[in-house]
Amino acid sequence: MPFVTLREVLEDAQRNKYAVGAFNTNNMEIVQAIIEAAVEERAPVILQASQGALKYAGIDYIMGLVRAAEKNADVPIVMHLDHGTDFDQVMMCLRKGFTSVMIDGSKHPLEDNIAITRKVVEAAHPMGVTVEAELGRIGGTEDDIHVSESEAAFTVPEEAKTFIEQTNVDALAVAIGTAHGVYKGEPKLRFERLKRITELIDTPLVLHGASGVPEEAVRKAIDMGICKVNIDTNIRQAFTKALHEYVNDNPEVFDPRKILSPARSAMKEIVKEKIRLFGSSNRA
Ligand code: 13P
Repeated sequence: MPFVTLREVLEDAQRNKYAVGAFNTNNMEIVQAIIEAAVEERAPVILQASQGALKYAGIDYIMGLVRAAEKNADVPIVMHLDHGTDFDQVMMCLRKGFTSVMIDGSKHPLEDNIAITRKVVEAAHPMGVTVEAELGRIGGTEDDIHVSESEAAFTVPEEAKTFIEQTNVDALAVAIGTAHGVYKGEPKLRFERLKRITELIDTPLVLHGASGVPEEAVRKAIDMGICKVNIDTNIRQAFTKALHEYVNDNPEVFDPRKILSPARSAMKEIVKEKIRLFGSSNRA
């Protein structure tokens, strides 16, 4: 099935109160795990590559892999750039066939975040590509982006209104208490803030750093208006755990295919679990 944009999948999610899973990918096994899970669950899915993924695999390899997925899968797939911070790199993604991009100007003051986001929207929309932006600063580490606890900042609802009016983005990542990476304690989501944001804007909202957030809290956030949920760390953990176990139990094996197969299956299982949690099964 040809790639679709964020807008195409999020409109239905927003109307029907579920979320579309956005899963980070870096290599063939991860792409296959995500796509097989989405196909088996009959779920629309967002494949996303961060700047770190593009640096690791190369944009042409990533696009080659996801185009193979596009040919073989009969569910809607969005090809999305996660946390782009560089305008030229975002333009490169547009040229290479991404159907959606995130421009993350969250480290800049509001006016500058608006300016760079608007510049990306003005380039992307005429090409039929959707844009996600971030307002407030989500803490933690996502590849090459590190935001310390003291730098993290919640999204200010009134600023979100201004931001949307001035940028016309298709989705907005909000900082409501989640962080990228592994949590030290249990994350506490600021639902009051989320509620206020949804009262002021009707743009689809995105929850980053969702690995390790209690299921109950994820469900509540989706009920309240989150319609894209990002997962990376849980996939990495599933991969690494299965790989360690296999290598420890089978130290004599040196065939990468044998070593990587259980890791791929473990990632597929976690993606399926998330798809069910987000309520996007049978929505394709
Ligand atoms: P986690 O690594 O915490 O799952 O977050 C993923 C994410 O938000 C990617 O943008």
